[in-house]
Amino acid sequence: MNNYFQKIPNDFLTTGSIEDWVNLKSDKIFSQYNGYSDCKITYHELTDIGNLKKMFKRSLFSILPLNVRFVIVDGKEDSGLPPHIDHNISVSLNYYINASNIDTTIFYEPKPNQAPYSYNDVFENVYNPVKDQEKIYKFTQVDEIERFNAVDDSAYILNVSKIHSVIKKSSIPRIFLSFLWKDHSYEEILKSLKI
Ligand SMILES: [Fe+2]
Repeated sequence: MNNYFQKIPNDFLTTGSIEDWVNLKSDKIFSQYNGYSDCKITYHELTDIGNLKKMFKRSLFSILPLNVRFVIVDGKEDSGLPPHIDHNISVSLNYYINASNIDTTIFYEPKPNQAPYSYNDVFENVYNPVKDQEKIYKFTQVDEIERFNAVDDSAYILNVSKIHSVIKKSSIPRIFLSFLWKDHSYEEILKSLKI
């Protein structure tokens, strides 16, 4: 147990086919960020909340998420998303629809006296309405604390107010649903889940 992430049982969802999950994705893009070596993360809005509800076997949330996004991370081998803190999100519960078991999510603490860069200082922006407030660190500014490799059909709750990165070791797109909160702490949401 740590205060960065926790794997949670996936029994609150049906085991849908990949088509069932992809049906949830609308073409409307909420935001998109470039990582390094041509890695890119895209947050899509969902088609219809009714379609999402059909994928639930039982209720999980006591505190409802503020948003749900359909997320795709595209990138070749050895690309990734640099260490960063999510803007305006404190907690993300990710259900990995398609994940290689070799891509890694890593959590860090900053080394002493290290300040983050804003998004535009480091990477060319594609489309991101909140670009100036995304906080990015260089790998040399942070110390690794914990890591995990997600597999298909697994769920994790992430403390995205902590610095984290994604290192892609496969070229398979990483596809997941992201349930997001911003006004609650990681500990609060974790405790409130019906797991
Ligand atoms: Fe993030």
